[in-house]
Amino acid sequence: MEFSTRTIHAGQPSEPGTGALIAPIFQTSTYEQDAPGCHRGFDYSRTNNPTRARLEAVLADLEGVPHAAAFATGLAAENAVLQAYLRPGDEIVVPLDVYGGTYRILNRVFQPQGCVVRQIDIADPAALSGALTDRTKLVWIESPTNPRLLVYDIAAIAGAAHARGALLVVDNTFATPYFQQPFTLGADIVVHSVTKYLAGHSDLVQGAVLAKDPAVFEPIKFLQNATGAVPSPFDCWLTLRGLKTLELRMQRHAENAQAIAAALHAHPLVRRVYFPGLPDHPGHDIASRQMTGFGGMVSFELDGSVEEVVSFVSSRQFFALGESLGGVKSLVCHPARMTHASVPPDVRASLGLSDMLIRLSPGCEHKKDLVQDLVAGLDAVQRAREARTAFADV
Ligand SMILES: Cc1ncc(COP(=O)(O)O)c(C=O)c1O
Repeated sequence: MEFSTRTIHAGQPSEPGTGALIAPIFQTSTYEQDAPGCHRGFDYSRTNNPTRARLEAVLADLEGVPHAAAFATGLAAENAVLQAYLRPGDEIVVPLDVYGGTYRILNRVFQPQGCVVRQIDIADPAALSGALTDRTKLVWIESPTNPRLLVYDIAAIAGAAHARGALLVVDNTFATPYFQQPFTLGADIVVHSVTKYLAGHSDLVQGAVLAKDPAVFEPIKFLQNATGAVPSPFDCWLTLRGLKTLELRMQRHAENAQAIAAALHAHPLVRRVYFPGLPDHPGHDIASRQMTGFGGMVSFELDGSVEEVVSFVSSRQFFALGESLGGVKSLVCHPARMTHASVPPDVRASLGLSDMLIRLSPGCEHKKDLVQDLVAGLDAVQRAREARTAFADV
């Protein structure tokens, strides 16, 4: 079965009792039992829920593995993996370019508990092999990364991690299973902020963890119930609805991102564009090899001042200024003051995360409107600059 067919059919039969084409929202906390301890697969909705079970089935199918657990948010999903695999003294290796919330949970929650966080240039094989020790339990990457869209060689990193007995976790939020299948490249665990492209409409927060090996999955499944950060049946239903158009949306997001990246690349006020689809992007060759498309996100550095960045991001017609990404409605964000504000400025600088960086999440609007809006914003920055110079000359 092809990908788009699976988004609509996998784990989603018509409801047997009524024939309802779309399964209802099982809005229930508990289930009537036939005899004490004798139930029909569901006893309490923290432990299991039919709407959530359908969602987990389709997510697992799309990533090509048997096991999925849905969580209340992407960070709850991350927390379950970290809690399952890190004990005091254990080590985790992560790249320099990592989502701000991942940076925060590692450095503010797990490091104080005695876990060692090694943040390295993971694209450098020597740095990676130097960072791996007998205490390394996890290697954790995103690819493409948030916000600079760096691309890492998943197969090579999996090989290095496995050689030292560590598991490789891939955050597949940006690529989605439509553009990238990390398990085929050697990942042991995949995490998602379902909030983003998978749900796709900026109307819920949710996360997921997927695994191939039942032994790897078991402690995560245990924590899903034991710590209880599960999504509501309604949110699961919304994601099931969103997933049905995942392929169509991802194709549109990617088409828009490609057009925007080309327009920005050609603009004199743009210092640098980060988009793996551009041939001069350092991860272009790896992305061409390990992805089936370049994704829907574009970041760029404005050749100007922070004030100009703030003015640009605050006044777009179609790009709402907001956290998050991956919805049908376009978003723009200033990572230094928003998603990555929890990363201290000196650390941001050492990570190469410029205060001039602007992150775009093009939605599913028409690319002409989106490009026009961005070019108009850059032209307005240019005009304001010229007006200031003219005023200074008077
Ligand atoms: C790559 C990535 N991973 C994880 C998360 C965390 O997900 P959530 O916001 O659903 O908790 C985010 C959120 O922006 C993200 O961008």
